[in-house]
Amino acid sequence: MEDRIIPAHVAIIMDGNGRWAKKRGLPRKMGHVEGCKVVEQTVEDAARLGIRYLTVYAFSTENWKRSGDEVDALMQLFRYYAKRLLKIANENNVRVKMIGERSRFAPDIIDKIHALEKTTEKNTGMTFVIAVNYGSRDEICRGVRRMLADSRDGILEPECVTQETISSYLDTAGLPDPDLLIRTSGEERLSNFLLWQLAYSELYFSDVLWPDFKKEELVKAIEVYNKRERRFGNAK
Ligand code: FPP
Repeated sequence: MEDRIIPAHVAIIMDGNGRWAKKRGLPRKMGHVEGCKVVEQTVEDAARLGIRYLTVYAFSTENWKRSGDEVDALMQLFRYYAKRLLKIANENNVRVKMIGERSRFAPDIIDKIHALEKTTEKNTGMTFVIAVNYGSRDEICRGVRRMLADSRDGILEPECVTQETISSYLDTAGLPDPDLLIRTSGEERLSNFLLWQLAYSELYFSDVLWPDFKKEELVKAIEVYNKRERRFGNAK
């Protein structure tokens, strides 16, 4: 992979935890346990490869509809990994940021999210963005509500609204749009993830289930991205 272009921002829809567990006769939550280990490793791999921004879809606005047991297991994993990620982020000079509507989480999880962002805010390496209780349409709704409130208060003139203005009202304000989106497990949908931000991104679909997604898979996705870059000359 010499002379490769490393995409500045890689976004990942981590899919296939449930199928990974089912294939092994394990409860679904074991797929998420394994999936978290892969998240941890991917943060280190991405930082070392020189990726500047890594965004992962950890919990969607639709995920609340899963069984109480599975939602509880995911919440317990967030609690545990908030602590572990703090260590990993600081060891790798990684800044952590959460996007999504966090007020629906238990107070201790909200505190942990806040601590994770605050403690890592001065790190200067990769930015690791975790989408929790995130849905693109919900993000756009929340952004439009704030825009209308600012317009009512005289802070925003409707005729001055540009694409950049809209971007600045989204949860991802200040982050560049993803260059590459990876979705695992053979599904080829966006599932309400970063709909505005992915307008020009390269899409890469892998058949590998998320718990099996290793560094080689990330490198493979970057290689395919490089081939497309060469073919189309990065034309938007
Ligand atoms: C999709 O697999 C995965 C999820 C809904 C959750 C992803 C979350 C993690 C890997 C944990 C992230 C944790 C941190 C700390 C960032 P699925 O359950 O939809 O799989 P299936 O399609 O095979 O059923």
